[in-house]
Amino acid sequence: MLPSTLKLMKFGHATVTSKGAGLTVTMLRPMCSLPKLEYVKAEKVGTDGRVGLLTLNRPKALNALFTPLMNDLLAAINHFESDSSVGAMVLTGSEKAFAAGADIKEMQNRTFAENYQQNFLNFWGDVAKTRKPIIAAVNGYALGGGCELAMMCDIIYCGTTAKFGQPEITIGTIPGAGGTQRLTRLVGKSLSMQMNLTGVPIGAEKALAAGLVAEVFPAGEAVVDGAVKTADKIASHSKLIVQMCKEATNAAYETTLAEGLATEKRLFHATFSTADRKEGMTAFVEKRKPSWQDQ
Ligand code: CAA
Repeated sequence: MLPSTLKLMKFGHATVTSKGAGLTVTMLRPMCSLPKLEYVKAEKVGTDGRVGLLTLNRPKALNALFTPLMNDLLAAINHFESDSSVGAMVLTGSEKAFAAGADIKEMQNRTFAENYQQNFLNFWGDVAKTRKPIIAAVNGYALGGGCELAMMCDIIYCGTTAKFGQPEITIGTIPGAGGTQRLTRLVGKSLSMQMNLTGVPIGAEKALAAGLVAEVFPAGEAVVDGAVKTADKIASHSKLIVQMCKEATNAAYETTLAEGLATEKRLFHATFSTADRKEGMTAFVEKRKPSWQDQ
């Protein structure tokens, strides 16, 4: 269930408010519709539908991430990326499993040559290239590719019964979508080595203590509610400045400290070329709420 304070909005039309010459005009604007999705449910929730909620929907296989599901997920993410009324997204699964990993049945008979020539799973990384913030709301299993998918998101929330792990070692392989890299950056070498080399998952409390997740909620809908609430708060800010802030924060992962600080400084300076920076500071001085143009 969605939080009662947050309204669901249907696809097809977005209510947009444009401000020009001192006039405020609210109009209905047609949006490009989503391609038909079989394995991902995509809805707009939150205030005025400004949060894109993505729910993995392959329950019988515990949301194992086979190619059709990942194609659907990327199509839905791209749709929300290009929908100017959406400011942030939430990615969730079922109560039993966020995702139990890459699809082992799909991988069972693959060869090295095929994987190498087709750069198998490389396209998954597009999730991490999303410019709008994504919050992973994890209940149950986030194993292998499931844990890696959560780590491609910007914030992870989980329920008390969540299990995060990289069990690839137990099936004769190693993580292939960031489990040895993002996990190590997030929780440090010692715990990452333990998880990757034993394959034994960790629970919510340990994930919180290690910095893998930002908050733990009671298991179930509370996790999604909490994530939507945070996404709604993020989407209440200037969408332009939010993206610049995400880009600057991500530089902490991708670069040295000196390069990251330089990126931050350039983006900070650049906010002064935007209407929203001027509006934000002016609204503070005038003791009123800012009105964002995303410009
Ligand atoms: N791939 C394909 N199918 C999977 C799957 C996966 N990763 N995980 C679960 N399933 C399927 C099961 O085969 C089963 O299907 P059937 O009913 O057709 O037999 C169904 O989902 C339910 O699973 P279980 O009966 O196993 O459920 P359980 O509650 O007994 O156990 C579990 C749950 C502990 C998560 C167990 O399913 C499991 O260990 N799954 C595999 C976890 C794993 O090894 N993940 C890593 C995959 S490799 C990877 O992700 C590589 C990478 O880095 C990208």
